[in-house]
Amino acid sequence: MDGRGFVRDAWYVGAESGEVQGAPLPRILLGDPVVFYRAADGRAVALEDRCCHKRAPLSLGRIEGDCLACGYHGFAFDPSGACVRAPGAPGIPERARVHSYPVIERHRYLWIWMGDPAKADPGAIPDFHTNDDPDWARTGACLPVAGNYLLMIENLLDLSHVGFVHAGTIGSDDTSASIVWESEQHRVVGVRASTDIDTPPHNRRQGFGPRCDQTKVMTFLACSHITIDITTRERLPAGSSQAARQMHIMLLNSITPETEGRCHYFWSSTRDFAVDDAAVTEFFHAMTVRAFDEDRVMIEAQQRIIDLDPSAPTVTVLGDLGGVQARRLVSARLER
Ligand code: FES
Ligand SMILES: [Fe+2]
Repeated sequence: MDGRGFVRDAWYVGAESGEVQGAPLPRILLGDPVVFYRAADGRAVALEDRCCHKRAPLSLGRIEGDCLACGYHGFAFDPSGACVRAPGAPGIPERARVHSYPVIERHRYLWIWMGDPAKADPGAIPDFHTNDDPDWARTGACLPVAGNYLLMIENLLDLSHVGFVHAGTIGSDDTSASIVWESEQHRVVGVRASTDIDTPPHNRRQGFGPRCDQTKVMTFLACSHITIDITTRERLPAGSSQAARQMHIMLLNSITPETEGRCHYFWSSTRDFAVDDAAVTEFFHAMTVRAFDEDRVMIEAQQRIIDLDPSAPTVTVLGDLGGVQARRLVSARLER
């Protein structure tokens, strides 16, 4: 699979909204150079980051009103990608233009459509509303990973790695948890239920007792998004008349291919408790950064070994089911 081997008719997260402010932001997405900037009215624009004159990156140029001007010889392009100035030419050369990609800003992200613009339906953008819902707190970042994006998808769909990769940080997942997978046309859903387990420290801090029940619903949305909805319910002593409380953490993950061997991992950790408590947000941020860096180290090492011999055999076990079904959906889309 080369860079052309990605599913292009799909929404990908190209950038966090906050990453595109004053200066143009260059980013390689699905093997293509892209530059994000904002037009005069603040609207986000994504153009091919390759000047049609001598292929200099436009991201090294200047924003001029709604346009982006190349920093090499001054060609300027409007948000549609049309060349509006070509110094050194008597007029605008007929074929002078760069590609412009549909972009939608929603839920703190810039969503980009790298395929046929006629098929870019904004209704197909995943529901990431907890990212900017005032009833939820959010923290997140973009982590560059030197590994194929599907390795990260597999990682997120098989939480049995938690007790091994994250033994020193977020600790033990309940490997005895029951898990049920369902695959539909555009998504794969796994439900992992644990009963009577140790309450995680962040729920203890909110006043939960020592034991709890927990449900994790993992949803893969083809081709690059995974939400993990974690509900923790407190277990009350027998005969308690209190109502059992529950708290939610919603993890929003979008893994956008950069090239065949690299990806951009956009993660958000959102929660519906202690929403105004900055210290809790800081705690989640630091914990997640540490944990996801452990995943990054493992995936980059895995990619280096895979590169030595991509045909080396592997063994698949039941725990891989989510990842297997996700890869199947992606392959089916690629074939279409
Ligand atoms: S390379 Fe952009 S104007 Fe020459
Ligand atoms: Fe992990």
